[in-house]
Amino acid sequence: MVRSAVHVYLRTRPTSAGSSSLSVQQDGKTIKMLLPKNAEAGLINNQLEHLLFKYDGILPKASQETVYSTCAQDVVDHVLRGYNGTIFAYGQTGAGKTYTMSGDTQSYQQRGIVPRAIHQIFKEIDMRVDQEVVVRASYLEIYNEVMYDLLADHFDTLVPSTGASSMDGYGQSSEQYGINHRDAMGGSKKGHHKGTAVGDPYSGHFLGSSYKKDTLHVVDAEVKGLVKRVANTEEEALALFFAGESIRSTSKHALNSNSSRSHCIFTLYLETKQGSDSLGMKGLQSKLTCVDLAGSERTKKTHASGQTLKEAMFINKSLSFLEQTVNALSKASHSRGASSGGRRVLGEDGTSASSDQGNAFVPFRQSKLTSVLKDALGGNCKTVMIGNIWPEDRHLEETISTLRFASRVRQLTTNAVVNERRDPEFLVKKYERQVANLKQELAMRDALSGTSNRLSSRYGSFSEAEKQEIKRIARKMLNGETPIEDVTLHSLNYIRELFMQVKQCADEQKSELGNKHASAMLELETKLKQFGSDATKVEAASKADEGKAASDEAASAAVGESDKPSGFHVGNAPSDARPDRGAGTPVASMENQEDLADTYQDVSAPMPLDLSPALGTSMSGSIDKSTAFDLFKYEVEEGRNLSMILKERKKRLTDLRHNLRDQTMELNSGKEEIDSLTHALKNREGTKSEGDQDVVDEEQYKYMQSLKTAKRNYREVYQKVRDSQLQVQTCSRDVVAAKVDLYKRFNDWYPRTMANVVSRDELLAKMNSLSVQADEENELLDASEHFDKVEMQRIILEDPDSLAFHTAKKSLKKMTPLAKGKTLRGEKAKATMTRRMERDLALNFGLKQ
Ligand SMILES: Nc1ncnc2c1ncn2[C@@H]1O[C@H](COP(=O)(O)OP(=O)(O)O)[C@@H](O)[C@H]1O
Ligand SMILES: [Mg+2]
Repeated sequence: MVRSAVHVYLRTRPTSAGSSSLSVQQDGKTIKMLLPKNAEAGLINNQLEHLLFKYDGILPKASQETVYSTCAQDVVDHVLRGYNGTIFAYGQTGAGKTYTMSGDTQSYQQRGIVPRAIHQIFKEIDMRVDQEVVVRASYLEIYNEVMYDLLADHFDTLVPSTGASSMDGYGQSSEQYGINHRDAMGGSKKGHHKGTAVGDPYSGHFLGSSYKKDTLHVVDAEVKGLVKRVANTEEEALALFFAGESIRSTSKHALNSNSSRSHCIFTLYLETKQGSDSLGMKGLQSKLTCVDLAGSERTKKTHASGQTLKEAMFINKSLSFLEQTVNALSKASHSRGASSGGRRVLGEDGTSASSDQGNAFVPFRQSKLTSVLKDALGGNCKTVMIGNIWPEDRHLEETISTLRFASRVRQLTTNAVVNERRDPEFLVKKYERQVANLKQELAMRDALSGTSNRLSSRYGSFSEAEKQEIKRIARKMLNGETPIEDVTLHSLNYIRELFMQVKQCADEQKSELGNKHASAMLELETKLKQFGSDATKVEAASKADEGKAASDEAASAAVGESDKPSGFHVGNAPSDARPDRGAGTPVASMENQEDLADTYQDVSAPMPLDLSPALGTSMSGSIDKSTAFDLFKYEVEEGRNLSMILKERKKRLTDLRHNLRDQTMELNSGKEEIDSLTHALKNREGTKSEGDQDVVDEEQYKYMQSLKTAKRNYREVYQKVRDSQLQVQTCSRDVVAAKVDLYKRFNDWYPRTMANVVSRDELLAKMNSLSVQADEENELLDASEHFDKVEMQRIILEDPDSLAFHTAKKSLKKMTPLAKGKTLRGEKAKATMTRRMERDLALNFGLKQ
């Protein structure tokens, strides 16, 4: 809100005669008026020698531009920011009001405040690319207390017609469209306010339907029914203004009247839509009102009679109401002056100058003019008045009158606020939401009155136990155990607590997830570093396998067929014949065996074999190693081949495991069959009498036969399981060997290729340049590479500890040329590759399966 005084400036019309009584003081704001000692005019107090009037500025010889920048620019600026603004010119006829407000419409240099304001507004709008601003214009003339719309629908300023007729050429009632006749001039007998087509004494044409009247009325400083025309450009706005001006001046000519007898109000309305905020589309609505008042001269001095007198009376009436209004307002401000610094602040409606403002009655509604200017004089508006004086001694009385009025206006204060307007559609939605919330709240209260739930009756803070309970509900909600709709919302306080608990749970989950992620990354890194330990593990695994084989042999032996029918013991091998972790049934040990190939890296090697020396710490500044590993696997032929081998072996391993699993299940069911048959046989024996013990009866025989078949089958399946186990073991080793091979070759390749390479692109370039050389040496080195590979596999399997040694030695050898490099297929390929790389790294190093 901008609480400000109405700013008042005084502009003097240039004159040849000049005035000996008027002088501007040094501050440029005070005007000193010497009073003639023997003045006849009763208005002048003979007791005083001079009068001093202070304003916000005095503009004695100011150019139109200076007047604009001093008086109007700031108001227009406010209008652009959403405030209402009013600029009005007051003064006697001929003092320069029209010149100040409209200026010379034929001369660009001499243009007045209105055209300049239009320019400023559109210039600013053009710069606001993110805003949609709609500009509308209206032009109102108040003449003899009747309002005329200078921009109302009309067919043209001049409409051809055949003569004075109540109907115009278009069959429309000229009463509706015709210019208001000012009866003393037009000679019509129709009366003062009746619209009549009036012959243009100059052109012989009839004035067209320019004015609209009588339908207009003022409500809250707003003229209802007044046409507001959209102006999309500065040019369009100026055209509207000029059109109104031309009607104003044409009517003046036509009626031989003086436009100084009417009040002219040109208004620009701005509607700004600016970006949506949390509450939806926000809009600003503001207006700039430019008023060229009728001449303020007193009638008693003009000796007017007839129509002129009538006009003068009306002018006087509205201006005197304006004066009364201003007087009342300034008086009220005086009455509060002692406590509020001389300025009075009015309520937004500008009519609050009653009760607490002393006895002052503000007659806003007494005239059309004051009704329209209500806001400008004491409401939601930023207002500037320009007092025009004609500084010649003969106009001294009018000048004093203007100076006094201006002083009183300067005591007024307004409260300008930004006129925000919300998108109605959005408001409806907002209110719907509010209604829904209120309904829910009501339902809550209803429930509250009918229930004794301790949570619902809680409006204070919750106890720890209650908080825990709410937390439990929050967890269930988050885990999806409880659908959100099923959560009873007991009170607003409860909802708040629930939100807090949900947030807390979410925070906890987030940090848990972060920790997991971090430890997974750490694990991956560790695994990459300790890859060498795999070899050790492979050996350990193979030893374990041997142990298991031994135990399986024992088991196999135990599952024998005794000479005695009662001698069956399936799967009970001596405990020392088994490796520790293989304890239990053969099935159990096979299950362990199954995981072997993948769990090898989980067992920390006693002496980790570190391949990292081959990478060299100097590589730290080069491109990411895992990226390089990926490049190696996908872009370097050697790596691609090794990676392929690894994949094939892993695939075979998976197939073998599935096969082993099926056979194991078969073996288990075979064992169950043997167990139940043995049990049945024993039962049968138990039921026999002493004498019959040695005789095998038919039932017994049947069981024994079945048992024999079952055992034979079992042994067959067992053999198959054993074979498969061996295949799985071999294949597991092959997988490990392929992994080691791939990583070892990568470790060879990496430092060679990475030397002085700092970016992925550089690496690719280097790979490409080397590919030529590689082509030449390919054949030769393929063989040597193959040898190296086989050799390395052997070394790893025989003595993993020696790998570092071999690798170091080999790195001294002549650089192995790179396989043919391939350029990447664009960024998409890079992205796909990165994803594959992440997945494969995880797969290769046992994070996922
Ligand atoms: N500041 C000024 N500089 C130049 N000419 C002026 C100035 N003020 C008024 N005039 C001239 O004085 C005459 C009367 O001015 P006008 O604006 O019509 O007075 P009003 O509207 O107050 O009756 C016009 O011819 C106008 O061009
Ligand atoms: Mg004028």
